Amino acid sequence: MNINGTAHRTISLDESDSEVPLVYTIDQRFLPHELRRIALKTSNDVATAIEEMWLRGAPLIGAAAALGFYLGLREADPATWDRDIKKLTDKLLRTRPTAVNLHWAVARQLTAIEKGVSYDEKIGIARQTALDIIEEDVAICKQIGEHGLKIIEYISNQKSKKIVNVLTHCNAGWLACIDWGTATAPIYLAHQKGIAIHVWVDETRPRMQGSITAYELAQQGVPHTVISDNTGGLLLQQGLVDLCIVGTDRTTRTGDVANKIGTYLKALAAHDNNVPFYVALPSHTFDFSISNGLTDIPIETRSEQEVLEVQGVHAGELKTVRLFPTGTRALNYGFDITPARLITGLITERGVCEANEEAIKAMFPQA
Ligand code: MRU
Repeated sequence: MNINGTAHRTISLDESDSEVPLVYTIDQRFLPHELRRIALKTSNDVATAIEEMWLRGAPLIGAAAALGFYLGLREADPATWDRDIKKLTDKLLRTRPTAVNLHWAVARQLTAIEKGVSYDEKIGIARQTALDIIEEDVAICKQIGEHGLKIIEYISNQKSKKIVNVLTHCNAGWLACIDWGTATAPIYLAHQKGIAIHVWVDETRPRMQGSITAYELAQQGVPHTVISDNTGGLLLQQGLVDLCIVGTDRTTRTGDVANKIGTYLKALAAHDNNVPFYVALPSHTFDFSISNGLTDIPIETRSEQEVLEVQGVHAGELKTVRLFPTGTRALNYGFDITPARLITGLITERGVCEANEEAIKAMFPQA
């Protein structure tokens, strides 16, 4: 998608110096104030970037892990290959526990390199697999957009083409993927098609991913308004939301959804007000091995500081300001679980299905 009129992607591999491949990404800590590109040189750099949320969002985390795996293979010593690969795998998997895309990408790499005979061949396969994951993600998000667009078009027609108001939580946009985004892809396509649309953007405390969503939407010229996390319920009661679309970090085979903390409360309020609540996801965000979101999905606990302090950029530098009294404790869960019963539908690259085991299985029979 565009930044200042120029098309960008969130991550890429630069091999202009074949000795030192670089993973280029956007340091999201500086958004929305500054577009700062950073070069990650080692698998340790990639692990740090994921863990400390310099880059974030389930699909982007998966793509970054795949590239980090490639860099890690290049760093591995043939004499201690198996041990090095095990360490590399553990290091990447430890970074963020909830987004299943990370596990999916690493597992895909591990399976892919089995086919290589020599070490060089394995490294070549890992490189290609990472690049494939990136290209596939772009195509998948576009397909999610096309399926989601039909929902927005339907609502627009129902409303005699009056503005369709969408509420979203966190950032499930292109900056959380490679391009297009998941929750935002239908919005971008609707906007491109000339459908009148407006987005309510939850600020999404404590990491303020809403500021990234607002940045994206502004760059594409999509009308939007930021709201504090507590405002959505009232807007839903007032009839000012036509549909909600969010992303997800892991979805069970029964349709329970883990997404950014606060998603559940929005789904409850949407349900209470008969407003459709959709979750947009690529199929690799399903965890087909689990059935109960509440018991089976690990919820990331992040540092207290993220709640007690607020971080922003001032004069090009990251600054931190304390909000609460010294000594105050905070609890900082990164995600919550929205049970399938509160979800109207799952928007995937194959189409829209109900959030239940039967419908998901019918759409993804091979899984
Ligand atoms: O903690 P984050 O910012 O990585 O969490 C991101 C989200 O919860 C997104 O909504 C989710 O990953 C879907 S991104 C397409």
